Parts: sequence; structure tokens; C-alpha cells
Amino acid sequence: MMRKMYKPILVKIDEKTKQTEDEYLLRINHEIEHEQGQFLQLSILGFGEAPISICSYSEEYVELLIRNVGNVTNALCSLKKGDLIGIRGPYGRGYPIKLFKGDSIIMIGGGCGIAPMRSAIEYIERNREDFLDVHLFFGFKNPKEILFKEDMEKWREKFNLNLIVDKGDKKWKGNVGFVTDVLERADIDNKRKVVFICGPPAMIKFVIEILEKKGFNHDQIFISYERQMKCGVGICGHCMIHGKYVCKDGPVFRYDEVKGSNE
Ligand SMILES: Cc1cc2nc3c(=O)[nH]c(=O)nc-3n(C[C@H](O)[C@H](O)[C@H](O)COP(=O)(O)OP(=O)(O)OC[C@H]3O[C@@H](n4cnc5c(N)ncnc54)[C@H](O)[C@@H]3O)c2cc1C
Ligand code: FES
Repeated sequence: MMRKMYKPILVKIDEKTKQTEDEYLLRINHEIEHEQGQFLQLSILGFGEAPISICSYSEEYVELLIRNVGNVTNALCSLKKGDLIGIRGPYGRGYPIKLFKGDSIIMIGGGCGIAPMRSAIEYIERNREDFLDVHLFFGFKNPKEILFKEDMEKWREKFNLNLIVDKGDKKWKGNVGFVTDVLERADIDNKRKVVFICGPPAMIKFVIEILEKKGFNHDQIFISYERQMKCGVGICGHCMIHGKYVCKDGPVFRYDEVKGSNE
């Protein structure tokens, strides 16, 4: 079992799966005790470090979804099965899902923002009797960009899944538009519910406005924020929002703790 650590250790990539043109899922066969929504600092010699959310919930392995956007993530996406990477962590505060036993859970995500929520979904799957209904509102640019396609099929059977694309193609029969359009029409109230959100800042802003109209209080809403990071452990100050460290006090915040920082 691996515990929180400040120096990276080298681990082997045990599986690598292509998800989309720019995104890969890496599996490392290490047990890492973590909360849903926490992240690891991944490093490659000569390239640097990047914070990446743990997107699985397992005693045997961790999975990490990497979107290729720059220097480090490009190097991570180029790795092969058997290659070594450095990892340190897990860091930060995740979604406090265990506090909400007996409640309904709503998750709203866009693009690779769904990665940290996948860990929470896998937790719920393994503890299904602890929660009431589960509503998932997940948006992607187009059908080719949909992540975790096999999981989506499974989640459709188990939960109330709303999969939405900005733009469909010939085969697409599902929702077209924005996550916010579908959320606005959804018949959900705020009774015994908690909401987890992760996605682009513009989506988060409109989602909150809709939730407010539906009667949700700010202490029912938890958001995972992304900020550029260096140390990952509350020393360098790179990741601050509203006097809080995203790496240490977050990345998941209850909305009333950081209200205003997204605008
Ligand atoms: C808590 C947390 C969890 C994350 N989880 C994931 C994940 O599960 N999967 C994933 O693919 N990515 C995730 N990210 C984003 C990832 O860390 C960045 O994309 C990565 O650090 C970029 O590094 P790079 O060297 O590849 O890009 P760079 O070459 O440094 O930059 C490429 C572009 O991305 C911007 N950028 C760099 N870092 C960030 C950042 N943290 N947030 C927003 N923009 C940034 C730069 O300004 C630049 O425009 C997460 C970030 C945080 C803070
Ligand atoms: S990344 Fe250094 S304080 Fe958060």
C-alpha cells in the first residue's frame, strides 16, 4: 500500500488505453489510499510535473486520464506500457461523498472534468445501498470526444445518465446542446441532494445559476477547481484562489467557501 509522500517514487505503467484523439487512460498497479477527487503529481524526467486526478476507485490499481495539452501531458501520452513515471501524492481534499450517505447525488461535468467524478461513481457502484438516486449530466464537444464510453453504457443501466454533445453526428441519437440546457429542463429539486461539479469555468458559472434557480443552497454544491500548480502541497502559492490553496484546501471546495472566484 502506498501512503502520502512528498518525494516521487517511480512506478511502471501497466496499461495504456486510447480514449480519444488527445486523451489516454493510464493504469498503474499500485494500491493508493485516496479520496474521490484527489490528485497525484505525475512526473517525467526532463519534462516536469503535472497534477492529474485519480479517476478510479480500487484497492489494486489507480487509473489516470491524461489530456495532451502541452509539454508534460504530451510526454505522458507518449509513454508505453512498461515505461516508468514518477508519482507523489495523493494530495488535496476530494468530494466528501461519505458524508452524504442516505442522500441523492448529482454529478455535472464537462470533458475531462468527468475524470475525478469517475472515482466517486465507482465508489457509489461499490456502496450502492448507501445512496438514493444518482443523476449524471455529462457533456462533450461531439460523440468522438466522449470519454469512458464503456463505463457510460454501464452507468446508463445503473443511474440516471444524461449524456450531451455540443454537436452530434449521423449516428448520434442522444441529447444535443449544452449540459446546462438539459439541466435546466431536468425535474430535480434540492431535497436531500448534493451536487458535484467539474468542468470548464463557463459551464460551472451557468450550472450554479441554474441550481440556484432550482433552490439549491451553496453548501449543497461542491466544485473541483483546476489551477496551475507547482509544489502541490501548499508551499509555493501558485494555485491560490480567494486566499485558499487549490492544491491543499481543494481542489474540491464547497461553493460557499470560494463563491466569486469563478467569475
Ligand atoms: C487538481 C488538478 C487535477 C487535474 N486533473 C487532470 C486530469 O485528470 N487529466 C488531465 O488531463 N489534466 C488534469 N489537470 C490539468 C493538468 O494538470 C494540466 O493540463 C497540465 O498540468 C498541463 O501541463 P503541460 O506541461 O502538459 O502543459 P503546459 O505546456 O504547461 O501548458 C499547456 C497549456 O495548459 C495551461 N495549463 C497548464 N496547467 C494548467 C492547469 N492546471 N489548469 C489549466 N490550464 C493549465 C497552460 O497555461 C497552457 O496554456 C488537472 C489539474 C489540476 C490542478
Ligand atoms: S501548488 Fe504550491 S501552493 Fe499550491
